[in-house]
Amino acid sequence: MFTAKTIVELKSRLSELDSMSCVCLVPTMGALHQGHMSLVKRAVEENAVTVVSIFVNPTQFDNLWDLDKYPRTLEADVALLEKISKDIIVFVPSAEEVYPEGQNSESYDFQGLEEAMEGAFRKGHFDGVGTVVEKLLHIVKPDRAYFGEKDFQQLQIIRKMVELKKIPVEIIGCPIVREENGLAWSSRNERLSKAMRKEASFIFKTLKTVKKKFGTKSVKSVLDWAKKQFEERPDLDLEYIVIAESETLRSLEEKRPNTKYRAFIAVFADSVRLIDNIALN
Ligand code: PAJ
Repeated sequence: MFTAKTIVELKSRLSELDSMSCVCLVPTMGALHQGHMSLVKRAVEENAVTVVSIFVNPTQFDNLWDLDKYPRTLEADVALLEKISKDIIVFVPSAEEVYPEGQNSESYDFQGLEEAMEGAFRKGHFDGVGTVVEKLLHIVKPDRAYFGEKDFQQLQIIRKMVELKKIPVEIIGCPIVREENGLAWSSRNERLSKAMRKEASFIFKTLKTVKKKFGTKSVKSVLDWAKKQFEERPDLDLEYIVIAESETLRSLEEKRPNTKYRAFIAVFADSVRLIDNIALN
């Protein structure tokens, strides 16, 4: 397994490879779990060279406490990656390496995709994500990059950034991987107590019922129903539940034919913020 800590080390390693090889990038913030692993497995299957970046990006956190609490488990991460393939290149840069001119984000116009949901509740978050992903794409210059639908708004924003900035990379979206009880895998799940981890499976249960109801009921009645479910669960604090068009992420007033919709949710379980989403049609 080759681990590069600097851009120079990474570029030198990539330059040793056959220039015709298909190179891909899987950007992560580490504390790897089965969700990340599904992206890496697919990347390794589909490309000659896989670079996995592990970097807890300070500019996408709107909360210093959350940044500080973010799990950092590099040794275990490398061991997990090694199980998939010893040929993976791991890129673990320092903040100084990624942000030599100071930890500032570029200000993007993602044409409205950034306004709702995570963008509304986490100020500056997507500018931070856009900045770091653009830098990583610029450094690695991959043919493909893999992202999870777990962060569906992030996936759509990255597709938009690549289109607007004309970055020659194919963005691949991968399905959400869940724990046995339905809770979407997240590095934050580790911060939940055993009881709360079980309780948090209620998030996906609710999304599944939302999907069922969406087929026959009005959007308002479905959302009212879902909000009521959380009122009856004071240990799960609902931040938002939104039904939106998958493409534009505009929240939905009336269903239209030939349009794909998703339900998006953010919930605090104790002080841990969990997000999830589901395709409705
Ligand atoms: P991180 O939260 O570490 O996630 C890295 C990638 O794994 C993202 O594309 C995310 O959507 C995907 N992922 C996480 N949990 C998943 C699950 N349960 N099923 C499927 N995919 C899952 O997202 C980030 O890091 C950062 O914002 C990043 C893109 C690396 C930029 O800093």
